[in-house]
Amino acid sequence: MAAISKKMCMIGDFGVGKTSLIRRFIEREFSDQYLSTVGVKISRKTVEVERVNTTEIVTVQLLIWDLEGHTKFKAIAPSYLQGASGALVVADLTRQETLERLPEHIKLFSSVNAKGSVIVALNKSDLVEEDKIAKLNDLSKEVIDSLPTAKERVLATYSTSAKTGVHVDEIFHELAARMIR
Ligand code: GTP
Repeated sequence: MAAISKKMCMIGDFGVGKTSLIRRFIEREFSDQYLSTVGVKISRKTVEVERVNTTEIVTVQLLIWDLEGHTKFKAIAPSYLQGASGALVVADLTRQETLERLPEHIKLFSSVNAKGSVIVALNKSDLVEEDKIAKLNDLSKEVIDSLPTAKERVLATYSTSAKTGVHVDEIFHELAARMIR
């Protein structure tokens, strides 16, 4: 059976771990080196997911667009986001300001893809104590909920680690399942 292709985007500030999450998901590897993404890089991976609320298994080819991180000087080009069914919006648990910018990224994504699904990844959980993660999780919910257009698009928030692999497969699989709904 031919696979369904779906475009998804990785969005977030620079250095939060977008490329590392893709690398962990596809190559099962992690590197401490930081090579900033320039422009966009597209990776592919085929996953099998259960269609939501059924037992039907669907093969989905994910086209994962890794976008250069947002900085003070450079915003994400909306044209990169066009045609995406979903986004993983990533923040870095060791840099609170990256959590505070989550609503901005979600708003931009949904302004281009009004029906797109969003999953939030609070990354680098291996560097932060459990109780602090819980507090930062609450903070991220608060900032997202303060912007109704962002709140209604977010399906779930996970704390992830590209280094240890915790919750990495889950975020990609859940997004894939939601994108074929
Ligand atoms: P840009 O391309 O500049 O937007 O960066 P990015 O968001 O793709 O970040 P990248 O994956 O390049 O990671 C930035 C740095 O953080 C690298 O040194 C990674 O090794 C490190 N890093 C990424 N994820 C994790 C993680 O889960 N845990 C730890 N400890 N380090 C991480």
